[in-house]
Amino acid sequence: MGYVTRDEAARRLLAGDVVAIPTETVYGLAADATNAAAVARIYAAKGRPDFNPLISHIAAPTQLAGLTLPDSRADRLAAAFWPGPLTLVLPRAPNCPVVAAVSAGLDSLAVRIPSHPLARELLAMVGRPVAAPSANRSGHVSPTTPQHVLASLGPDMPVLDGGPCQVGLESTVVGLTGPQPLLLRPGGIAVETIEAVLGERLGHPQDAKLQSPGMLLKHYAPALPLRLDATAPLPGLREGLLSFGPVPAGFAAQYSLSASGDAAEAAANLYAGLHALDRTDLQGIAVAPIPEAGLGAAINDRLRRAARGR
Ligand code: TXA
Ligand code: MG
Repeated sequence: MGYVTRDEAARRLLAGDVVAIPTETVYGLAADATNAAAVARIYAAKGRPDFNPLISHIAAPTQLAGLTLPDSRADRLAAAFWPGPLTLVLPRAPNCPVVAAVSAGLDSLAVRIPSHPLARELLAMVGRPVAAPSANRSGHVSPTTPQHVLASLGPDMPVLDGGPCQVGLESTVVGLTGPQPLLLRPGGIAVETIEAVLGERLGHPQDAKLQSPGMLLKHYAPALPLRLDATAPLPGLREGLLSFGPVPAGFAAQYSLSASGDAAEAAANLYAGLHALDRTDLQGIAVAPIPEAGLGAAINDRLRRAARGR
């Protein structure tokens, strides 16, 4: 199958088939969120555990009303960050048309409006919420190019080519099902930026794994072992370096996340760098230290999961 047009992608979604679509964060494996058989095809293609809930993607804020209960905090966050890399988890509306499997049986629903122009056109054409996890085999590195999608899910997967993803990290997931807003997953919008709009701090749930199964440790992992906070090569080890800022000498290979030490640029390059250095002629991937500020927190979250998840 391989590459498909936008119109073909829309036709497939309406027919209950899966198709990989571009977003500004990562490529998503999309299906009609109101069609149980279509949603089951996502889980099958990813080899994904079926207790893991999916994000529903919509074209416009007006679509939110029928899906979830109203929430003034959600309205403020949506006004500030949609379209964009923010996902809101809200209580499901009584007659929510999204199938229960998308929520993995929870009484909440995760929703976002992506900003990628092709994704927005497609979602507007489809006119229904579209479920889409990252378009990779479960537990593997997320795709930020159509080539990554085909390498992970196979050459028969239909893909809508929207170029490389500009943000490069999954959306930030904020839980709004209780009195305190919770950070369920750090991501493409910095926590500090979200807190400034909310006027309060985000809570960090102790049992994040239960609240948001995407927080499971085994995630985002390349095949090679990962060594974090690496400042120099280890003697006798053929490691590729993911560098941030100046490049130390002596590594067997190197991929620059950001030569100037810019966290947003590093986020956009992170998964491409992990894909590029996950090579059979290397023995490991070393990663330079990355400061926690801004998007650095989300980058380090993914790197720690990838390092532990093997
Ligand atoms: O940027 C993104 O969010 C990408 C693109 C394709 O939109 N999608 C993505 O989907 O990363 P996925 O399925 O890989 O991650 C969904 C995240 C997981 O952490 C999941 O646990 C959480 O959202 N989530 C989904 N529904 C939830 C719910 N009802 N309650 C709590 N967490 C939920
Ligand atoms: Mg994922």
